[in-house]
Amino acid sequence: MVDTASLQIGDQSVELPIVVGSEDEKALDISKLRAETGYVTIDPGYGNTGSCQSDITFIDGDEGILRYRGYAIEDLAERSTFIESAYLLIWGELPNAGQLNEFSELFTKHQMLREGIKHHFNLFPPNSPPMAVLSSVLNALACYYPELLEINDEDTFTEAAARIMSKVRTIAAYSHRQQQGHHIMYPHPEKSYAENFLHMMFSQPYNEFQPDPELIKALDVIFLLHADHEQNCSTSTVRMVGSSEANLFASVAAGVSALWGPLHGGANVAVVEMLERIRAENLSVSDFVSQVKDKKAGIRLMGFGHRVYKNFDPRAKIIKKSCEEVLAKLNIDDPMLAIAEELEAVALEDEYFIQRKLYPNVDFYSGVILRALGIPKEMFTVIFAIGRMPGWIAQWYEESKSTKICRPRQVYTGPVERSYQPVGQRS
Ligand code: SDX
Repeated sequence: MVDTASLQIGDQSVELPIVVGSEDEKALDISKLRAETGYVTIDPGYGNTGSCQSDITFIDGDEGILRYRGYAIEDLAERSTFIESAYLLIWGELPNAGQLNEFSELFTKHQMLREGIKHHFNLFPPNSPPMAVLSSVLNALACYYPELLEINDEDTFTEAAARIMSKVRTIAAYSHRQQQGHHIMYPHPEKSYAENFLHMMFSQPYNEFQPDPELIKALDVIFLLHADHEQNCSTSTVRMVGSSEANLFASVAAGVSALWGPLHGGANVAVVEMLERIRAENLSVSDFVSQVKDKKAGIRLMGFGHRVYKNFDPRAKIIKKSCEEVLAKLNIDDPMLAIAEELEAVALEDEYFIQRKLYPNVDFYSGVILRALGIPKEMFTVIFAIGRMPGWIAQWYEESKSTKICRPRQVYTGPVERSYQPVGQRS
């Protein structure tokens, strides 16, 4: 087993240490490359660049494997809950009964928002994008909890983590109610995490929303499946912001902004809009797939493809199965599901997608199931953010152990030095 790689630059040879992870992933440590050679590396989109060594989540994109702290996502989705898996991601071990109860009680204790925060929602105009509201109000929490801005011990971290994870669903539900012109529904002390969110979204004072336990479980699984995904765009953003020792509120607010993009968490909305378009324009699936393959059209099959998975995204398989179960339970015959399943079948047989190793990702079916749960389309990416919150928090905490601010280098390609010309001498 070699432990260094030799890099030859002209007549200079440098030895780069080889880093091997617990799942036998290998990396070249280039942390001394510039000092020894004057060279930096360049890797647009960071497809070949590891930003950190992490103990939290493992993905094998070729095998379609996803594990949170060593536990397979299929096992956790089947047997765990979102809160239990959140504890696992943050603390590294599954909680015992006492730890789980204590963690859950923190969520009940911190589920309300300060009265002052409620006024923020009234300042947003109608049809405000919920991700803009979520990011703004998460950041504003820093104004109400100054004692949690500097985290130097585990108790303060726990307090901040629990407040954010509990309040993020309250913020999301309040923003939805305010945008609908409805009064807000306070959280209920006895309801579970997902059930409480649905209560705040859909209950009325005269009529408490009583979702079927299977629907509550389906939403809990969706949160769990989104909980972490190693160094994706939004998590890398949270780590980048946290590396400057910015507080946890600011860091997760930045993560929400990164997640918003249609190439990332915004894809679940883009998938449903794609399915709606196919239906509205009465397109055949094969016609639409032809449009996707015609590069000039600039159309992507949203919910397909992934930077890491070159095989099935295991989360997509679980969500598809849950989708079919929920729609059957609700006796909903959603044409979107049929279009999605036909799209998947056609794409998986088509050389264009096979050659590029494009498979359904977590976003392909999630929108269909969220629709069935009554979640409005504009809230889909907010649901993703609620689910991803424990992963952002766990990754932020891991990054906080490092002493180095994240500051990549570049290769400058702009104008070389030139002298200033007074405006009268310019052409
Ligand atoms: C998430 O990173 C994570 O872990 C993210 C995530 C998480 O949990 O945090 O898993 C969540 O963001 C899932 C991805 C959601 N996004 C989408 O579904 C949007 C549609 N997919 C893509 O735009 C794309 O696949 C990405 C952004 C997901 C990945 O892009 P890459 O790795 O940069 O790949 P690429 O854009 O360089 O594409 C490679 C080739 C290109 O064709 P060629 O130039 O080689 O001819 O594949 C084509 C692309 O045109 N391609 C697609 C396609 N995705 C890639 N063609 C049609 N439809 C698509 N969806």
